[in-house]
Amino acid sequence: MISSPTNPTATSSPARKRVLSGMRPTGKLHLGNYMGALYNWLQLQHKYECYFFIADWHALTTDYADTSNLRQNTLDVALDWLGAGLDPETCVLFVQSHVPQHAEMHLLFSMITPLGWLERVPTYKEQQENLTGKDLTTYGFLGYPLLQSADILIYQADFVPVGQDQVAHVELTREVARRFHQFYPAQPAVLPEPQVLLTPSPKLPGTDGRKMSKSYGNTILLTDPEPIVRQKMKTMVTDPARIRRTDVGNPDVCPVFDLHKVFSTAETQQKSREGCTTAGIGCIECKGWAADGIVRYIAPMQERRAALAAKPRQVWDVLHAGAERARKRAEATMQQVRAAMHLSPTLSQKES
Ligand code: TRP
Ligand code: SF4
Repeated sequence: MISSPTNPTATSSPARKRVLSGMRPTGKLHLGNYMGALYNWLQLQHKYECYFFIADWHALTTDYADTSNLRQNTLDVALDWLGAGLDPETCVLFVQSHVPQHAEMHLLFSMITPLGWLERVPTYKEQQENLTGKDLTTYGFLGYPLLQSADILIYQADFVPVGQDQVAHVELTREVARRFHQFYPAQPAVLPEPQVLLTPSPKLPGTDGRKMSKSYGNTILLTDPEPIVRQKMKTMVTDPARIRRTDVGNPDVCPVFDLHKVFSTAETQQKSREGCTTAGIGCIECKGWAADGIVRYIAPMQERRAALAAKPRQVWDVLHAGAERARKRAEATMQQVRAAMHLSPTLSQKES
């Protein structure tokens, strides 16, 4: 079972390494989003100087045709973050488009990045093939990972916590930083190469047994009320070999048991394994226990979230304050970048 996120008082020492990560606003978060990123961020915020942002421009790269949900989706993600326990006093939480420096950095990178580098990023072709309903032969879509490089390098981040699927993007980021340094050398380098902080994430299947994912429609949301969680769990697939109540089952091939491993106590896991392998319990009972664990885990988050959802103004205030801090940090890097590229609006030494 995962431990509940703790909230020790923040210690801000200036020597802390910097962490940057982002999430596209695709709507309310599910347990897979939580375990795949947010749970990890909750621990990181106490260890590093963290910048976490909602990548609304990245959402536009695929969903440019209809932006009517963008604002609500952004708010929903912010609510999920705050409800889960990201603390705006401890880390900087903001919206990408509130920090226009990201766009300036992206533009400058676009000048020095060979097209081939972007065409070769594995997610480029994959996504174009998968999201067939959308025209992704756009300039912005090709530039997706380069915008991500700008996001990362503009904070001179030391670490980027991401899942395996994003490693290629961080690798590109390192190449862009090296190329920038080749053209515009400075000592020390203006854009240090960031490192991936690979998110350890347990296997989290959705109700159909496949990886939990919005596009599969198999998710349990952090915001799902208890009856919905219980109902969704009832429909979850189990060990396919356990057909009758009298058949014994194998928890090691059962997706329900994967959820037990994450959300149930050791005693409940033991009880389920025992009951399953001896046909002592039915799957309905076992799923009910898994639901208990999930409900117990998300209830306090839902309580915090509901309180904030009633006051969206406050949430936007939090994001605006975060953007102000982020802009300061980003602008400091941009000044070094402009100077290295001889773009500084200020007079050079010779001229003054
Ligand atoms: N591409 C990331 C994702 O889909 C989101 C993202 C955008 C990001 N910019 C970032 C992640 C910068 C880490 C750092 O999950
Ligand atoms: Fe899966 Fe539990 Fe049914 Fe066993 S009893 S097959 S672990 S749901």
